[in-house]
Amino acid sequence: MTSLTVNNQPIRYRLSPDTPLLWALRDASNLTGTKYGCGTGDCGACTVDIDGRARRSCQVPIGAIEGSVVTTIEGLSRDRSHPVQQAFLAANVSQCGYCIPGMVMAAAALLRHDADPSEATIRAGITNLCRCGIYPRLVEAIQRAAR
Ligand code: FES
Repeated sequence: MTSLTVNNQPIRYRLSPDTPLLWALRDASNLTGTKYGCGTGDCGACTVDIDGRARRSCQVPIGAIEGSVVTTIEGLSRDRSHPVQQAFLAANVSQCGYCIPGMVMAAAALLRHDADPSEATIRAGITNLCRCGIYPRLVEAIQRAAR
């Protein structure tokens, strides 16, 4: 049994401690906004916030984060869209959209640690992959969200 707080809700997972957080979220909690892309920690589609840091949930066994606070795209903002989501919309960042939840989670974490990131900081800090090539609009949106 692993106890976590997910999107402000206490949850006890009756899963093997080796279960990747990605699958606990998607299969046991039905939080399907967190996407599976590669399963190897490379693409970032599965990015969630764990204790204030953006992490690739496919690489995090739930047993390794007992007691942690996890935020997914569903819990990023309660009443209205998060400023990063608003900026993504305003900059038309999304193309196919599959990578966007992970991108938003990574961007929100980046902005918590650097409120006014340079383009170089954004490009170095957001290592999520996008097959549509949204990167120029992604940089624009993150800088827009920072304003
Ligand atoms: Fe986790 Fe790609 S699915 S990094």
